[in-house]
Amino acid sequence: MKLIFPSTNKDSQMSNIKILDKEFELFIPYEKIRSVVEKMADKMNEDLAGKNPLFLCILNGSFMFAAEIFKRITLLDAEISFVKLASYAGTQSSGEIKELIGLNESLEGRTIIVLEDIVDTGITIDNTIKQIIAHNPAEVQVATLLLKPDALVKEVKLDYIGIEIPNDFIVGYGLDYDGRGRNLIDIFKVVE
Ligand code: IMP
Ligand code: MG
Repeated sequence: MKLIFPSTNKDSQMSNIKILDKEFELFIPYEKIRSVVEKMADKMNEDLAGKNPLFLCILNGSFMFAAEIFKRITLLDAEISFVKLASYAGTQSSGEIKELIGLNESLEGRTIIVLEDIVDTGITIDNTIKQIIAHNPAEVQVATLLLKPDALVKEVKLDYIGIEIPNDFIVGYGLDYDGRGRNLIDIFKVVE
């Protein structure tokens, strides 16, 4: 078992990795991610023809997915912006409610495409969509690279879904375990 280090080397992909106290095994190789994202981008190029969408990348986890898809949005007059969810400062913090920060442009009348790394319970994306809607966009669509359907507790409208996965903890391709593993090009899942 080797310590965490990103690599495209096929041999190293076969062995498990260790991040902090946990062991992870290869789950979704980059080639699969790329092909899924290519198909999603093709569909967006078609579906959103004639529109001027604003893609909103939800940091931190979605940065790799956002880069992967946005460079393939070649047929649209598209823009991208990067936002983040921050816990409320102060005594009213409920732990669950997070504020969308870093929004610099007006969303009024725009077609918004939210780029999310993973929808697990759906609480985060539900809360994000509500905050975006408060800015009066024309429409809000959600594209998530990953979905854990069995974990959903919120009814959310997901317009583009990359890969459905079981309820396992995963890391890599932007997703982290306690801040680590975001640099892995493949997605790994925890070995219980
Ligand atoms: P939700 O609010 O339960 O849908 O969780 C969404 C957020 O939790 C994602 O944006 C991720 O940051 C994080 N998350 C959920 N599942 C995983 C996982 O398996 N690995 C790493 N982060 C995860
Ligand atoms: Mg996230």
